[in-house]
Amino acid sequence: MTETERRFVQVDGLSRSFPGERGGEALTVFEQVNFSIARGEFICVIGHSGCGKSTILNILAGLDQPSQGVALMEGREIAGPSLDRGVIFQNHSLLPWQSTLQNVSFAVAARHRDWSRAQVLAHSRQYLDLVGLNGVEDRRPSQLSGGMRQRVGIARAFAIEPKLLLMDEPFGALDALTRGTIQDELVRICQQTTQTAFMITHDVDEAMLLADKILLMTNGPKARIAEIVEVTLPRPRSRSTVIFEPNYYPIRNHLVDFLVSRSKTFRDQPPTGYDPRHPPQVRPQADGSVAPQHPATSGAPHDP
Ligand SMILES: Nc1ncnc2c1ncn2[C@@H]1O[C@H](COP(=O)(O)OP(=O)(O)OP(=O)(O)O)[C@@H](O)[C@H]1O
Ligand SMILES: [Mg+2]
Repeated sequence: MTETERRFVQVDGLSRSFPGERGGEALTVFEQVNFSIARGEFICVIGHSGCGKSTILNILAGLDQPSQGVALMEGREIAGPSLDRGVIFQNHSLLPWQSTLQNVSFAVAARHRDWSRAQVLAHSRQYLDLVGLNGVEDRRPSQLSGGMRQRVGIARAFAIEPKLLLMDEPFGALDALTRGTIQDELVRICQQTTQTAFMITHDVDEAMLLADKILLMTNGPKARIAEIVEVTLPRPRSRSTVIFEPNYYPIRNHLVDFLVSRSKTFRDQPPTGYDPRHPPQVRPQADGSVAPQHPATSGAPHDP
């Protein structure tokens, strides 16, 4: 992997502040956020509500600007939205006056301006089928259930086959059965296409099924990336078999322990040697150790 591929997405010294209300003190949601995403890598972000996860995703999407620092994709500053980046929002964002099919096909047509209308529609239908929405192509969003609307948004983001897929709790509104099916689809698509992805989730099991690395964020304000956890579970992964991997519970316990206790104290009492510019990369192991890996010295996500 070349240096450019290793730093497909590069986030350096990112911070975001919002002006205080009625002249009050400004709110610094997060600061000194640094990480990179290699081409083909799947990154998940976990952290408590309000630590700035959606704000970071919006900056990567080109929909918000950092107060300090920079976000680059393929070496170029992300300065606005692009069809190279597909976004699935926390709340579905569909055009209410358009049908299910049109909500997907307008994005596909914008991405592939040289395609015929028949090609655009066939491609769009293929992705609606993938999320189990065949048969409701002509309904408008108001005529769909919440979970179905969310699936239209998922189909639209997948259908443009973006270089970077950005997902903000994409499965939160889905029932457990549908969520499982679409997670399996996502695993399959990402493996087939070596999709690069950045996903926010509250669900540690979902993160462990999908991610190569999980960014753990401290509580806000002034949130930081506390640690980067390597998910050393072999692929292909499936929900029914990952639980038998020796590292499954060590990783899971590490994540839950962070969320339940360490996320609150980390920001004010960071461990000695902690430097937000190089958050420690850790590998929880079955023998109870948490082998630290400095980002600069670690290799591919699944190196032994
Ligand atoms: N436009 C804005 N103006 C002022 N404050 C904002 C704005 N957007 C976000 N914030 C504040 O920034 C903080 C982080 O918001 P963000 O939506 O990024 O959090 P989050 O980590 O995604 O939370 P959740 O898990 O609940 O989705 C919150 O305190 C929020 O009130
Ligand atoms: Mg959010």
